[in-house]
Amino acid sequence: MRVQTLGQFIIEKQNDFPYAKGELSRLLRDIGIAAKIVNREVSKAGLAEILGETGEINVQGENVKKLDVFANDQFIAALKAGGEVCAIASEENEDIIPIDNEVSKTAKYVIAMDPLDGSSNIDVNVSVGTIFSIYRRVSLSGPGTIEDFMQQGTEQVAAGYIIYGSSCMLVYTTGRGVNGFTLDPSIGEFCLSNPDIKTPQDGSMYSLNEGNYLHFPDGVKKYVKYCQEEDKATNRPYSSRYIGSGVADIHRNLLKGGVYIYPTTTKSPNGKLRLLYECNPLAFIIEQAGGKATDGKKRIMEKGMHELHQRTPLFIGSTQMVEKAMEFMLKHETVSS
Ligand code: AHG
Ligand code: MN
Ligand code: MN
Repeated sequence: MRVQTLGQFIIEKQNDFPYAKGELSRLLRDIGIAAKIVNREVSKAGLAEILGETGEINVQGENVKKLDVFANDQFIAALKAGGEVCAIASEENEDIIPIDNEVSKTAKYVIAMDPLDGSSNIDVNVSVGTIFSIYRRVSLSGPGTIEDFMQQGTEQVAAGYIIYGSSCMLVYTTGRGVNGFTLDPSIGEFCLSNPDIKTPQDGSMYSLNEGNYLHFPDGVKKYVKYCQEEDKATNRPYSSRYIGSGVADIHRNLLKGGVYIYPTTTKSPNGKLRLLYECNPLAFIIEQAGGKATDGKKRIMEKGMHELHQRTPLFIGSTQMVEKAMEFMLKHETVSS
């Protein structure tokens, strides 16, 4: 079979894009290049001084690891130089980064990203990732504005993630299915390895931080018990799989079938994950692969955006499993302490 690189694939598919074809293609290519550079650093994290925490706290109040900063800087530099976006929003930056340079003057897109997802796993050689989400700007000209990011997830023109795992993969969608590319380190190219990914409608893995059990809503507690019950017909008990890197957990479930849940907890009454650069892009990918993503009640991609770092609960994965968990949520509406 002929090997198809990310660059070749993007050019071949460019006619599928409804709008600003060349620009979106170049933007996806810029992301691929930044991903390779970040992958190079991630893969030597155990060697370099870069290992460890900077001691700074990010806008979410969490410790920032050095690789978060590196990945953030790397993606911002590549996106600024590429000139296809007029603003960037990142988990690591409190405000948006408007881009005001010669090449970005005519840029038609904005991008939101989680430059390093799963940062608690950097020091222990467990997969981490990058998540990105691309919108058409709504502002008319000049550098992008906050309004460009206050769009519903349904308006995304492309979204994807990179997983820095046992191999490095880039998975993305432009709204016409989901394709996965694996980096061949010997040639330094992402090669199409998982064309037109479809997620199983049902699965037998559930992924959530069970340490928070006592603080889960009753519906989630009851669903977890349901997953643990014996029932041959539905292949229960299900297996529990939770890495703590959302990208890795959701990627595994995408390929094998499963459900990932980060519900509200008493500690995080709005959930932990961010709508703009974690939940919306992952929801777009999962839906495009035939799965489902909700906040327990409502479709993630139809939630209104009102602040940049807004959080939401997330139920995502195989359609039948997400629907079953939502049934439990509906039946047990009260929130426990
Ligand atoms: P980030 O590293 O970007 O802050 O995201 C981590 C997220 C998600 O990837 C993961 O599934 C979840 O937080 C883990 O949270 P807990 O440690 O609370 O389970
Ligand atoms: Mn994250
Ligand atoms: Mn992050």
